[in-house]
Amino acid sequence: MDLYEYQAREMFGAHGVPVLPGITATTPEEAHDAAGRLHDGLVVVKAQVKTGGRGKAGGVKLARSPQEAHDRAEEILGMDIKGHTVHTVLIAEGADIAAEYYFSILLDRSNRTHLAMCSREGGMDIETLARERPEALARVPLSPFRGIDEGVAHEILDAAGFTPEESARIAPVLVLLWEVYRDEDATLVEVNPLVSTDDGGIIALDGKVTLDDNAAFRHPDHAALADTSSEDPREAAAKAAGLNYVRLEGEVGIIGNGAGLVMSTLDVVALAGEDLGVRPANFLDIGGGASAEVMARGLDVILGDEQVRSVLVNVFGGITACDEVARGIIGALEQLGERAHKPLVVRLDGNKVAEGREILAAAAHPLVHMSDTMDGAARLAAELAAASATTSAAPAAPPSSGPATA
Ligand SMILES: Nc1ncnc2c1ncn2[C@@H]1O[C@H](COP(=O)(O)OP(=O)(O)O)[C@@H](O)[C@H]1O
Ligand SMILES: [Mg+2]
Repeated sequence: MDLYEYQAREMFGAHGVPVLPGITATTPEEAHDAAGRLHDGLVVVKAQVKTGGRGKAGGVKLARSPQEAHDRAEEILGMDIKGHTVHTVLIAEGADIAAEYYFSILLDRSNRTHLAMCSREGGMDIETLARERPEALARVPLSPFRGIDEGVAHEILDAAGFTPEESARIAPVLVLLWEVYRDEDATLVEVNPLVSTDDGGIIALDGKVTLDDNAAFRHPDHAALADTSSEDPREAAAKAAGLNYVRLEGEVGIIGNGAGLVMSTLDVVALAGEDLGVRPANFLDIGGGASAEVMARGLDVILGDEQVRSVLVNVFGGITACDEVARGIIGALEQLGERAHKPLVVRLDGNKVAEGREILAAAAHPLVHMSDTMDGAARLAAELAAASATTSAAPAAPPSSGPATA
């Protein structure tokens, strides 16, 4: 889970990392109010969206008075920054910046380590710096046991070319940022810029934090940081039903068991649908133990998606045998009743495949098509989706008069 800047700052503050006071606002009036409650001097109005480069996009603006904060907030609220609409701004006290630095800690999966990155040249886009002047960006692998103590902090700062005097001021902040990373189970803590102020202080002026969802069970307080308002409603429903679902932009709904099988099903459908102009509509892994109940929940999510025109169920029977899956599908269609009205292509293989196919054949459900191979199933599902796209192009009958009830 990625945090908004204002949430990252609050987390920093709770761990003792120096940040400037700030207040969020969702209307220009609230921004006016917030600026009045902060200090008398300069404030910044900052778009709260989960993407970088807000400054360049016009989403970070200075204001010298509450009225100016109101006016800047009016400009920024509603703005689109790289596809993210701004619903909230942060009004923060302005800093007297003497220098802008870069610092981050991240989980470097390719090298199987935690990594600190640091540069004297902060503020700018770090990908550009890493590409154009890699020598200006120090990269120091971290031991998970030692992390960043004063000694390691000095090594990192030396590697980035800071003077001993600067290092002495910055090192304690790096130690605190490591504590945020470790204690909150983050996979990224990035501060760009980390600034040195005119009076020699060090302040985290921006903050980007990604939390490791796999560690959520250790942090009951993190649930409150989740941003449910910008979540896709279908993804939220699937998550609530305990399903592993990601919505995509195509027409062929996909259900399978096991992430690897579902991923390759997406590939096969994408290939089969290429000439027909149809694509996979989602990723949905129902995992092991595909009971009728789980199958029904999965089908419910997919069939409720208006972009879906056909569904491919691709299951490889293992511990959960194909006969159970077949009963699950029929049971799910019965449970869903009229809500199930789109063609379903089922490909079963593996444990008890013959029994599974027999059950489906005996049920002879009008919506269910069987296919023995994955390629065949993908092609059929793509064709059914393409055919239904052309027939429903006319302002046709509502879905409830589809084949399910015909
Ligand atoms: N509180 C602040 N006081 C003064 N300048 C700021 C403040 N916050 C941000 N800035 C300036 O705006 C720039 C961009 O802000 P930042 O928070 O890093 O957003 P982004 O990285 O999304 O562009 C910073 O590099 C800094 O120069
Ligand atoms: Mg920044």
